[in-house]
Amino acid sequence: NAEQDLPFLHHPHPEPVAVDVRTAMLKNPGFGRVFTDHMVTIRWTEGRGWHDAQVRPREALTLDPANAVLHYAQEIFEGLKAYRTKDGGISLFRPEQNAFRFQASAERLAMPVLPVSTFLQAIEQLVKVDADWIPGGEGSLYLRPFMFANEAFLGVRPSSEYLFVVIASAVGAYFKGGKKAISVWLSEHYTRSAAGGTGAVKCGGNYAASLIAQAEASRNGCDQVVFLDSKDHRWVEELGGMNIFFVFEDGSLVTPPLSGTILPGITRASLISLARSEGREVREERYGIDQWRADAASGKLREAFACGTAAVISPIGEIKSTGGDFTIGDGSSGPVTEALKAKLVGIQRGEIADENIWVRKI
Ligand code: PLP
Ligand code: COI
Repeated sequence: NAEQDLPFLHHPHPEPVAVDVRTAMLKNPGFGRVFTDHMVTIRWTEGRGWHDAQVRPREALTLDPANAVLHYAQEIFEGLKAYRTKDGGISLFRPEQNAFRFQASAERLAMPVLPVSTFLQAIEQLVKVDADWIPGGEGSLYLRPFMFANEAFLGVRPSSEYLFVVIASAVGAYFKGGKKAISVWLSEHYTRSAAGGTGAVKCGGNYAASLIAQAEASRNGCDQVVFLDSKDHRWVEELGGMNIFFVFEDGSLVTPPLSGTILPGITRASLISLARSEGREVREERYGIDQWRADAASGKLREAFACGTAAVISPIGEIKSTGGDFTIGDGSSGPVTEALKAKLVGIQRGEIADENIWVRKI
């Protein structure tokens, strides 16, 4: 297969960031602000397919003002992390799952499908060339593969050219100060996605549409927004950038089902199988906001947490809404949340046996 053997041309950065400057930048990177020296780019042209794969110095891209992506937002992305393991190696967590989801996103947005092997190769090449940017401790290298229409044309149809890019960002905790428990704002007016829409894929447009609700959450002192379904405005779906789990007094867990309107998170899928392998019951079923409120009040609901690549596992302590605020448990993290987090992070960082063969060493 010619596509699987796509040759990558290497253009090392002539002036990479100096070691002492990099060390200072890696001390407290925050999230999504500190970028590495290189990027990967691959082009796609109708009639020719994927070509011109390069590992090159990270720099600004030049776009024609008529570029279709600037008008109709034909853009998709992924997010995954590279970890520095105890033995000094580098690992990725289920990167082929990101490759598959990227393919699903491409199909939904009428874009060309990147072969899984090319996706993985692009990631590995970038991680290798910028390996010195992987922070130590609890930090990681957040990888952001994305693809966008790259044709100067104002008609509304799929573009005839695309650019696939991977950039990397050294990151620490997603939530400022690595808070113990986050607070979420219930979006009663805005929904994230509807049946038949793009909610189950990772396109920039989903996030553009969620920003006003996230801003409302911030104004109300909350870390994240939680969305309800668009039909009944009742069933909990997910957060702006994370899936959600509920933990009950009998030790069982509930997470909203993959109804087509939420993102099928890789962290979500991994936690379902980790929890089940520990003998816990996990139900993928609808959970209403009225029930959430009632179960929190009665104490039947013991814990709730958000999960995703950026957020890892973040306990949810408080829910705020125009209909009144409520707290889960004592408003801090709980034992099931902490145990699942320790297990997941342990596997990702090579400190716990990887029985499912989820970790891919670079
Ligand atoms: N839901 C949304 C809307 C997201 O943006 C993300 C992050 O990628 C997730 C869920 C969690 O997905 P994953 O666990 O694959 O990172
Ligand atoms: C991720 O977890 O990778 C996301 O895309 C979520 C976003 C909040 C950074």
